[in-house]
Amino acid sequence: MKLRTAAVLLATATSVFAQNGSTISGPPWVHEEYTTSPPVYPSPNATGSGWDAAFQQASSFVAQLTLREKSELVTGETGPCTGNIAAIPRLGFEGLCLMDGPLAIRQADYASAFPAGLTVAASWDRDLARQRGLEMGAEFKGKGAHVILGPVAGPLGRSGYGGRNWEGFSPDPYLTGVLFEESIVGLQENGLQACAKHYIGNEQETQRNPSTNEDGLTIEAVSSNIDDRTMHEVYLWPFQNAVKAGVASMMCSYNRINGSYGCQNSKTLNGLLKDELGFQGYVMSDWGATHSGWPAAVAGEDMDMPGTIGWSPGAPSYFGGNITRSVNNGSLPLERLDDMCRRIMTPYFHLQQTSYPFIDASEPALAGNSPSDYNYTFNLGNQSDIDVRDDHAQLIRELGAAGTVLLKNVNNALPLKTPKNVGVFGNDAGDITIGLYFGSDPDLQNIGYDFGVLPVGGGSGTARMTYVVSPLEAIKTKVASYDNKALVQYVLNNTLVIDSGGFEILFPRPPEVCLVFLKTWATEGYDRPSLLVDWNGTALVESVASQCSNTVVVTHSGGLNVLPFADHPNVTAILAAHYSGEQVGNSIVDVLWGDINPSGHLPYTVAKQENDYSFADITNSSALLTTTDPNAWQSDFQERLLLDYRYFDYINQSVQYEFGFGLSYTTFTMDSITVQPLTDTGNLSATPPAQAIVPGGNPALWENLYCITATITNTGSVAGAAVPQVYLGLPQPPNQDTTPKQVLRGFEKVMLQPGESQEAKFDLTRRDISYWDVVTQQWTIGAGSISVMAGFSSRDVQGTTSFSPLG
Ligand SMILES: *[C@@H]1O[C@H](CO)[C@@H](O)[C@H](O)[C@H]1NC(C)=O
Ligand SMILES: *[C@@H]1O[C@H](CO)[C@@H](O)[C@H](O)[C@H]1NC(C)=O
Ligand SMILES: *[C@@H]1O[C@H](CO)[C@@H](O)[C@H](O)[C@H]1NC(C)=O
Ligand SMILES: *[C@@H]1O[C@H](CO)[C@@H](O)[C@H](O)[C@H]1NC(C)=O
Ligand SMILES: *[C@@H]1O[C@H](CO)[C@@H](O)[C@H](O)[C@H]1NC(C)=O
Ligand SMILES: *[C@@H]1O[C@H](CO)[C@@H](O)[C@H](O)[C@H]1NC(C)=O
Ligand SMILES: *[C@@H]1O[C@H](CO)[C@@H](O)[C@H](O)[C@H]1NC(C)=O
Ligand SMILES: *[C@@H]1O[C@H](CO)[C@@H](O)[C@H](O)[C@H]1NC(C)=O
Ligand SMILES: *[C@@H]1O[C@H](CO)[C@@H](O)[C@H](O)[C@H]1NC(C)=O
Ligand SMILES: *[C@@H]1O[C@H](CO)[C@@H](O)[C@H](O)[C@H]1NC(C)=O
Ligand SMILES: *[C@@H]1O[C@H](CO)[C@@H](O)[C@H](O)[C@H]1NC(C)=O
Ligand SMILES: *[C@@H]1O[C@H](CO)[C@@H](O)[C@H](O)[C@H]1NC(C)=O
Repeated sequence: MKLRTAAVLLATATSVFAQNGSTISGPPWVHEEYTTSPPVYPSPNATGSGWDAAFQQASSFVAQLTLREKSELVTGETGPCTGNIAAIPRLGFEGLCLMDGPLAIRQADYASAFPAGLTVAASWDRDLARQRGLEMGAEFKGKGAHVILGPVAGPLGRSGYGGRNWEGFSPDPYLTGVLFEESIVGLQENGLQACAKHYIGNEQETQRNPSTNEDGLTIEAVSSNIDDRTMHEVYLWPFQNAVKAGVASMMCSYNRINGSYGCQNSKTLNGLLKDELGFQGYVMSDWGATHSGWPAAVAGEDMDMPGTIGWSPGAPSYFGGNITRSVNNGSLPLERLDDMCRRIMTPYFHLQQTSYPFIDASEPALAGNSPSDYNYTFNLGNQSDIDVRDDHAQLIRELGAAGTVLLKNVNNALPLKTPKNVGVFGNDAGDITIGLYFGSDPDLQNIGYDFGVLPVGGGSGTARMTYVVSPLEAIKTKVASYDNKALVQYVLNNTLVIDSGGFEILFPRPPEVCLVFLKTWATEGYDRPSLLVDWNGTALVESVASQCSNTVVVTHSGGLNVLPFADHPNVTAILAAHYSGEQVGNSIVDVLWGDINPSGHLPYTVAKQENDYSFADITNSSALLTTTDPNAWQSDFQERLLLDYRYFDYINQSVQYEFGFGLSYTTFTMDSITVQPLTDTGNLSATPPAQAIVPGGNPALWENLYCITATITNTGSVAGAAVPQVYLGLPQPPNQDTTPKQVLRGFEKVMLQPGESQEAKFDLTRRDISYWDVVTQQWTIGAGSISVMAGFSSRDVQGTTSFSPLG
């Protein structure tokens, strides 16, 4: 199904939300309140909080710079990397090399393609998230990159259609917050700078940037209109984790927020990020997201990337010489420019990047330019093709399996025993036929390429893969390892299977198991046209299942799919394998044959049908695409707090597979659920005691106030990892937006041998049990009882308890 038009969206929204003017998500939505963003000036100075020694070094460094050098330090130049800050040789500064992207050092050769953020989210595994960060960090550093342009928490995944959702984690802000933080800690552990992106409200690709219509009129980028409570409890939440984790930089986003561009929105940059969250690092623009010079700088942007208007080398810049002029004519206070420079240099000193590996000499050619064209000096080395892959394929294989979710498994279909006749179907099973680096071929916009497995998505978040183990290749290897006379029969052309009616011609002997591999392309720059799998995958499953009573479906998708075949009696198993990176075939074979017991859980909801998601849709219509109103693209986030499962829970709607769901080859129980205070909660205040802001905000927000415990037991016959989850029902504050019935506030991944029990612990911080009070501008613990729902998914509740923090 195509995206609904704005008119239909409105009709849907009315029927879903409107109850005589108010909405199920809160009070009436008054669009006019979202047409301006409150001004917050001046821009807070970094104080070096948490990075004191480095801040001193940065301050003395900046004190030695000329005005021109300062302007150059805040402005990108053409060089060997995705983004480049020029060296200042007279002061021994070697410059900065910034590289895409969130799952691989995208542009480089001889580097690994890791599983996507979505796969990390589906693993619900803190340790693997951190380990992935560490190994990616080593690859970036080994290539001389100072900054990784990742990880991603925007898009959060408000709409399932979002083209970049797979680069990030989950529409649940808590799950994203935890894994975002682990990723950042891992990435930065050995001296790489992370860049948390895209800040903020970057929830769709359609009209993410301004466009020019036929009459030459600028049509502005989409405006994400977000109320203050939703901003704090949903979109800002994971970025708060990032700041607390000490993230070096943030990337401001293409979209507008309440009508004001992400890179010159003083409320989000000066107000929320630097003041309220105490962010000490620098804000760089997304590529081309800067729309002014000094106005962006005073609104809180610290670095312009790639530094030129329209990206081309030598083109004019909003920053660069304009920054110099703006200081000279008094438009930009020199103190602001000095603060920008200190913010850029502090993480560099803190992470000890003063003596850093040279940039791989292959990079200029891979970036499509030549060192002889550079107008500045960069830290370019002489060694080419440095192989940074190390043994990272092991983790990639493990995490690919860990992020695979077993959604259905009947008749003991899985794990496979030793089938002697294996049928393999689908265009996602075999080798990639278009090369291993997905360029910006417009043919790849909507559904990507036909033949070949889909290990990663497209756009700046892709990888230059050095090899890919396809599912078919891994299946052949597996089957040959137990019986070299066993058959692996395969047809990779979906249309041929769908058209051929009976598959006697294809398979003289019916396979014991029919493995069907499906995929869904997703890429930066385009939102998905459908929530179904691509390439007639639904028809393919129906065709195979009509003739094969043991049909096992595997999807490689950049986000959620609706699965109309889920209840088909011949579909005995379904695995959502997401984007698992270069070891994609080995990861899925490990799960299919039971060498790895699946432990992934859904980081989103799979609804019964596509229409069920209409509450949070991409803003798009043919009328908008031909509008003459520069301000026409408005995306009202009217669902407020009710994203994903919070919405389905609130309207009591049944779904196909709920948020948090995932099967295992073993079974688990949970009991003895308790809640204990960790501090003297006798005189707990509703709001945090006033304390000096540190990175992450008021430190009292991060204090653990309660601990929930539960005992998890493996009651089956094989080892496996359970993912116990804790959801809280927080009290509904008076006169506020609708509080979700339950929100995720704890999870663990617990490996258990058959018969083994372990206690799982879930600490609750003050922020975890508070709501954002828009009047007092404080995180506030609501009056009344907090209910605790503990279980193995958002709807598989194994036990409940409750507590009342304020007595
Ligand atoms: C809508 O109707 C409900 C129930 O009749 C009522 O309680 C509520 O006040 C009404 N809301 C508005 C905004 O009129
Ligand atoms: C957007 O507007 C809403 C409604 O006026 C307000 O609650 C919110 O704080 C604004 N946010 C920004 C970033 O301007
Ligand atoms: C930042 O520091 C400068 C001095 O370096 C001072 O003039 C300015 O007022 C400070 N800005 C803020 C917002 O505190
Ligand atoms: C270097 O500067 C010259 C002169 O301003 C300009 O024409 C050229 O495009 C610049 N090259 C790069 C790579 O920025
Ligand atoms: C300064 O910015 C303006 C656009 O506001 C641009 O036209 C001009 O070329 C820029 N100057 C430089 C030196 O890049
Ligand atoms: C100062 O210079 C900047 C950059 O050239 C320009 O945008 C701004 O309008 C100038 N301001 C004044 C007051 O001349
Ligand atoms: C690269 O090689 C050239 C010529 O041998 C030498 O001058 C230069 O210092 C080397 N650069 C690095 C970074 O090793
Ligand atoms: C796939 O099969 C269809 C139907 O038989 C056929 O028309 C098409 O050419 C085949 N595609 C390729 C690439 O062989
Ligand atoms: C398969 O899908 C393509 C586009 O995805 C469509 O053009 C074609 O008609 C479909 N074929 C069948 C047999 O459904
Ligand atoms: C299931 O598969 C068998 C063949 O093994 C077939 O006869 C039957 O019709 C299929 N059932 C459905 C509902 O398609
Ligand atoms: C946006 O809407 C237009 C017109 O309805 C449609 O052609 C286009 O495919 C839509 N974009 C997406 C990403 O669905
Ligand atoms: C959902 O179910 C609860 C309990 O049965 C009921 O109180 C509530 O009104 C229902 N909500 C909706 C939106 O139907």
